[in-house]
Amino acid sequence: MSALSVDDLSVAYGRRRIIDGLTAQPIEAGRVTALLGPNGSGKSTLLKALAGLVRTVSGNIRLGTQDLTHASFAERARHVVYLPQSLPASVHLRVFESVLVAAHAQAQATHRPDLDAVEALLERLGIAHLASAYLDQLSGGQKQLVGLAQALIRRPRVLLLDEPLSALDLNYQFHVMDLLHQETQAHGLITVIVLHDINIALRHTDHALMLHQGKLLTDGPSADVISSETLRTVYGVQARVERCSHGFPHVMIDALDTAHGSHPGSQSS
Ligand SMILES: Nc1ncnc2c1ncn2[C@@H]1O[C@H](COP(=O)(O)OP(=O)(O)O)[C@@H](O)[C@H]1O
Ligand SMILES: [Mg+2]
Repeated sequence: MSALSVDDLSVAYGRRRIIDGLTAQPIEAGRVTALLGPNGSGKSTLLKALAGLVRTVSGNIRLGTQDLTHASFAERARHVVYLPQSLPASVHLRVFESVLVAAHAQAQATHRPDLDAVEALLERLGIAHLASAYLDQLSGGQKQLVGLAQALIRRPRVLLLDEPLSALDLNYQFHVMDLLHQETQAHGLITVIVLHDINIALRHTDHALMLHQGKLLTDGPSADVISSETLRTVYGVQARVERCSHGFPHVMIDALDTAHGSHPGSQSS
């Protein structure tokens, strides 16, 4: 199983540099990686750069030994699926058809999802009952689940999800993270998820990257990356990480960190 490597990566919009010389430990297959950081820290930009949707100024992105930095869009799209932060456009298509279309867009000789595979995936995501509903008649959370189905059915090597839980209720948040873990392990996916909920990241991800103003503050096992110190630096909060009665680490926020004054993301970079 190969890893996704990011080396000295810089990304700019016009002359404004958003990601600045970012080098990360290899993002391994078979585990779920959280991409953390405050609003505006560059999470979506980094994900788009990995997906080849924004041009890089310099640096390298590799999948195993393959250089993705200069790969064609079609070549990259064979391996990488990106689910944007915004919900999919509301086209007048039934849920089932939309997932089937996504499957066929990616179809390769080795992996041709059929009707049964679509049905099984909708079942596993808990949205089988929506199969014949129209996309433009779904709630935000339901659309988000369909977006996930469209991404998962393509069985990419790299799965990039930008805030996939943002519209989901508590039950579905847990369910989706559980499912992503299973899929990631079973198929050796490289799964990178932007999350705002630090406790979900602690509980449901193996590895984490913490961004701060376009740079990587730290990366490693999620439980190491999420600490009082990093939360103070990056989010400007006083936080404790304690074990709950079931033994899981849990973050509690006590106060804003007075030394920061304002939201740390609002500082000019
Ligand atoms: N298309 C764009 N053009 C210009 N600036 C952008 C664009 N998209 C994002 N930015 C800027 O880049 C910075 C990082 O944005 P983003 O990657 O979306 O952050 P995050 O996802 O961590 O909230 C922000 O300051 C944002 O205003
Ligand atoms: Mg974002």
